[in-house]
Amino acid sequence: CFSDSVRPLIELIDSLKLIGLDEDIGLPSIAVVGDQSSGKSSVLEALSGVALPRGSGIVTRCPLELKLQKLKNGPWSGIISYSGHRETFNDPLKVDTLVREAQNKLAGKAVGICDELITLEISSPDVCDLTLIDLPGITRVPVHDQPEDIGDQIKTLILKYIAKSETIILVVVPCNVDIATTEALRMAQKVDPEGLRTLAILTKPDLIDRGAEIDVLNIVQGKVIPLSKGYIIVRCRGQSDINDRIPFDKAMEAELKFFRNHHYFSSLLDDGKASTQCLAAKLTKELADHIKKSLPSLTEQIQTRLLNVQRDLKNYEQDHHKYKNIYISLRPVFKKWDIYLRSTEVSFKARV
Ligand code: GDP
Ligand code: NA
Ligand code: MG
Repeated sequence: CFSDSVRPLIELIDSLKLIGLDEDIGLPSIAVVGDQSSGKSSVLEALSGVALPRGSGIVTRCPLELKLQKLKNGPWSGIISYSGHRETFNDPLKVDTLVREAQNKLAGKAVGICDELITLEISSPDVCDLTLIDLPGITRVPVHDQPEDIGDQIKTLILKYIAKSETIILVVVPCNVDIATTEALRMAQKVDPEGLRTLAILTKPDLIDRGAEIDVLNIVQGKVIPLSKGYIIVRCRGQSDINDRIPFDKAMEAELKFFRNHHYFSSLLDDGKASTQCLAAKLTKELADHIKKSLPSLTEQIQTRLLNVQRDLKNYEQDHHKYKNIYISLRPVFKKWDIYLRSTEVSFKARV
């Protein structure tokens, strides 16, 4: 997973988040969007190797930041944190319960959604260095006691993430639906018209109708809706695999076999356009490239903000008896941006 080159970049972004920079400036990340049941959680499960909450209806009700960290060796460990709560655990089977618990606390026990972030950090020898954000699936029809405008609420939440130019948008679309009418892709196209930061994942290739394989092949090859970051097709665990408790490594073997033996899709394996492994490698590289590309503008934004505060401080200083309160309130702001700039510069030098 290119760990040695990617890890420093992800650590840099993490260190900037730690000092709070992401509250003021958007930092590079990957957001996963798609219709309900399109296979978002399945893709994230395959990438992380842990079972996430799943089921029918809205299962993901809060944004879930999945931070995967590859260990050279050593045991699996997990940390879940949200609004002041932080818990370390070492049983992957607890992920499901802990995430549900977190969602219940943040979004209520019912079917509501909420935009507070839950962070799940997983360290293991079996994952790639990646940070992804899972978002609630797009729905149109409210169920149970859901508010009438649940669809709009979810779209607003998704937009908050994908509108940022620092976000790579991962659109998940099942092979057995018409991609052109997919709401998630339409939303991505609205905020990223040229498709520069949109990557599409096609799921459920085993459920394609007979005769439609060529159409899907054309889509993956970018002949229908071109995206500069392109398409990857993956096969994840279906409901029967889950019922049969097929483990992730076996599912991944089965996935490779599926593509290798596929009459239409086998060439996609060699082209790097099929399989979860390929997706992991591609995402890791995309994220690293994206961070590298964002660094100059990030420093520039911080410098500009710092200069502005500096100028304001100077202006008020001359008259600081009259503007005492403003002057005093500006000083911590200045300090904050000064720290941002230093941390950024130090991080760049040390890590990149
Ligand atoms: P989400 O709502 O977008 O998170 O979708 P899920 O990941 O929960 O998937 C919805 C359903 O599709 C689940 O029953 C999955 O097992 C199933 N599924 C996901 N990917 C595949 C796939 O590649 N093939 C098959 N047959 N089923 C899949
Ligand atoms: Na679901
Ligand atoms: Mg889900």
